[in-house]
Amino acid sequence: MRLAQILFSQGFGTRRECGALIASGRVRVAGRVIEDPATELEPDGLVFEVEGQSWPFHERAVVMLHKPAGYECSQRPRHHPSVMSLLPAPLRTRGVQPVGRLDADTTGLLLLTDDGALLHRLTSPRHRTPKVYEVSTRHPVTAQQLERLRQGVVLDDDPAPVRAVEVQARGPRALRLVLTEGRYHQVKRMLAAVGNRVEALHRSAFASISLPPELSPGQWRWVDPGEFERPR
Ligand code: URA
Repeated sequence: MRLAQILFSQGFGTRRECGALIASGRVRVAGRVIEDPATELEPDGLVFEVEGQSWPFHERAVVMLHKPAGYECSQRPRHHPSVMSLLPAPLRTRGVQPVGRLDADTTGLLLLTDDGALLHRLTSPRHRTPKVYEVSTRHPVTAQQLERLRQGVVLDDDPAPVRAVEVQARGPRALRLVLTEGRYHQVKRMLAAVGNRVEALHRSAFASISLPPELSPGQWRWVDPGEFERPR
């Protein structure tokens, strides 16, 4: 694949911009400047540098972000900056999108990808992808509330009950819920339906991917496709 095409596919600008970046000596491969945009390279496993920034080739981009509070998942945010502003420009240019949404005040694991098939698989209700939420509640959690969350509660927009596939008390005002649906404000509405209230919400895992402790709020990293096959 030509170097200019490689840069274009990775989100470094238009074809013309990528050609100009290379011709102006700002792209290196294996430490050597390459000035000919037509240079043929094997993209798989390639790591190139653009203006000193190292970039591994990925045919499809899948990344995880530790979402801080105060960011919206929407592409057109209204009250807070978008989570997209936490990612480098090439990922935005190549069109990565959040896999589902977290509320502006929710923290934790957010996956983003430009792989449409993966996005569909992970968000389709049919696939029942598990999502793990750590919830802090305003009022002490009772055994009866835990049981109702397990049995299923009815939300105001649908008569079919929604239930947590796992419910664990983690302290007097803390619980862990595993959900396989992704309804709007689902955790907050489920807690309200059992007479409690969410004070803070953090997603610690999505599908087989757990938020790594070393990833600080606001940081992102690449996700290796094999990470989807491993047990959580
Ligand atoms: N449920 C919510 O209520 N909010 C989120 O951000 C995610 C799940």
